[in-house]
Amino acid sequence: MRIGMLTSGGDCQSLNATMRGVGKALFNLYDNLEIFGFEDGYQGLIYSEYHKLERSDFSGILNIGGTILGTSRTPFKQIRDKDENGLDKVEAMKHTYRQLRLDCLVVLGGNGSLKTANLLVQEGLNVIACPKTIDNDLWGTDMTFGFHSAVNIATEAIDCIHTTAASHKRVFIVEIMGHKVGLMTLYAGLAGGADIILIPEIPYHLDVICNKISERYNRGSKFSIIAVAEGAISYEDSLLSKKEYKKKMTNRNYPSVSYELADQVFKKTGIEVRVTVPGHTQRGGAPVPYDRVLATRFGVEAAKLVKNGDYGNMVALVNGNVIKVPLKEIAGKLKTVDPKSQIVNEAKLLGISFGD
Ligand code: F6P
Repeated sequence: MRIGMLTSGGDCQSLNATMRGVGKALFNLYDNLEIFGFEDGYQGLIYSEYHKLERSDFSGILNIGGTILGTSRTPFKQIRDKDENGLDKVEAMKHTYRQLRLDCLVVLGGNGSLKTANLLVQEGLNVIACPKTIDNDLWGTDMTFGFHSAVNIATEAIDCIHTTAASHKRVFIVEIMGHKVGLMTLYAGLAGGADIILIPEIPYHLDVICNKISERYNRGSKFSIIAVAEGAISYEDSLLSKKEYKKKMTNRNYPSVSYELADQVFKKTGIEVRVTVPGHTQRGGAPVPYDRVLATRFGVEAAKLVKNGDYGNMVALVNGNVIKVPLKEIAGKLKTVDPKSQIVNEAKLLGISFGD
């Protein structure tokens, strides 16, 4: 049995834990097994950069963040474009797969990476995927590995801000990762006790935010904490076409939405505002126990799919069980926050403003 394995896209905390699950289970299932690890995601598959992974490579990595294989972003949009030397990337990936006489390729990836995985299935390769991303925005699975570890770090950031915000009577904006989907911001905002949560799915009104801050101030809470997703968007901007919005973002004089909002809130309320961006710390460090368990389960179930020849699938968590879902059904589909969901309603009843 000859298996290829790669990690693609932004890293997250339990990539190694997942590979360990796959590797250990496969070595227990097969006497005659070779695993090839492709370096830096699909780049390794395209350019034939790989090394053999032994049983021992999967030991001692359960709690180590990052990825022992390295990763990179290989945009799906450009996957059919030739590289700078005229190389057909899709053909090159198929060539590497065939040259190594692989029986299956195991891909650990998020949205874009799974689109490429699905394309490889359509091109005739045997592929099994594991859902990775701190954003938890993949369709077809209740949870992705990495999400809870990142939420933990974002929550700690909000926790740390709380005391300093209260001491200085300031408004603090904590910017949390997630360009398209606000699940991380919603969870970290709730867990960290944010007063205002702004996510891409619920466009905000500046007035509503400022009113909430003033209302808190007048009631004696001299500070406010706003959890803002990277992709949070004002109501006015949400009315723009994709093209107009892109143009506006290119010309924006602020590094991100948080800084623009900070300026606007200060101008409107006169209260000092500070911005904290935990950034890539959210993807760093050791995975939390939840992710270690989920990653291990995903890894082992992926190995079982390999053993059963159940190719073309992604392992997924649905109602507490790890199941398989066809890649063709989920590739390219985003899971977003439903503004009318129970969790958003609960947050609102608690007094959290979403700026809407
Ligand atoms: O997809 C995961 C993610 O961490 C997003 O939450 C974030 O917007 C993006 O990746 C950052 O990407 P990069 O690491 O390429 O800057």
